[in-house]
Amino acid sequence: MKPLPTPGILVAFEGIDGAGKTTQVGLVSSHLMDEELAVVTSKEPTNGVWGSKLRESAQTGRLDPKQELELFLLDRRSHVDTLINPALKRGEIVLLDRYYFSTAAYQGIHGGASPAEILRLNEEFAPEPDLLVILDLPAELGIERIGGRGDQANLFEQVADLSRCREIFRGFKEAKPYVMFLDATEDPNRLARRIANQILRIIPQRIADAPNLTIPEKLAAIQSALGSSNVIQDV
Ligand code: TYD
Repeated sequence: MKPLPTPGILVAFEGIDGAGKTTQVGLVSSHLMDEELAVVTSKEPTNGVWGSKLRESAQTGRLDPKQELELFLLDRRSHVDTLINPALKRGEIVLLDRYYFSTAAYQGIHGGASPAEILRLNEEFAPEPDLLVILDLPAELGIERIGGRGDQANLFEQVADLSRCREIFRGFKEAKPYVMFLDATEDPNRLARRIANQILRIIPQRIADAPNLTIPEKLAAIQSALGSSNVIQDV
């Protein structure tokens, strides 16, 4: 697997529960690995101490909004320090199943801090993604899909709340320049190919912008990263 000769590429997958983030992270990751690119996948909340505490609270009773926000920030800080930044430094493509946009949505509707304030707090230490994939889905469908996979909706996942979260996710379309906004009811394989292609399009740009490479080095790096089959069949 080939890391990039530049900092890696950070991709966050966001959307309400049931939108298909986990499926897309898996499918996109295998497309990129087929191209022999170095890929790391991860998720939030993490399985670390803070993340486990948050998962537990989703089943047993939510914490007060301030405490909950603090725990998400702690969990993320350790994720950024131990996994995200080191992988980017190694030139890997990092695919995240949820990131701080989830905090803006889920904690932003629960008092404590506004979505804009939550973004600001996160962007003080968490790198902004190169691509933010928003899988858009009506809340009722999200709940239905969660039910379909035999899971009980947890305390983060009531319909009215999920509708408000969806609106916050939709708002990022205008607020951020790196958003890929997708209809999560479309065919999952088709969505995955489109996302993988969008990531592949970032690579030559990233290499072209590298200040430490000469032009021949850039051409060789693009050739090495993308080979000849650089676009995954899109239809
Ligand atoms: P989820 O992706 O459903 O994890 P899993 O399926 O592995 O349990 O995430 C758990 C819940 O955490 C989800 O309902 C949304 C919530 N959440 C927040 O409220 N804020 C956040 O910052 C993140 C990352 C998740």
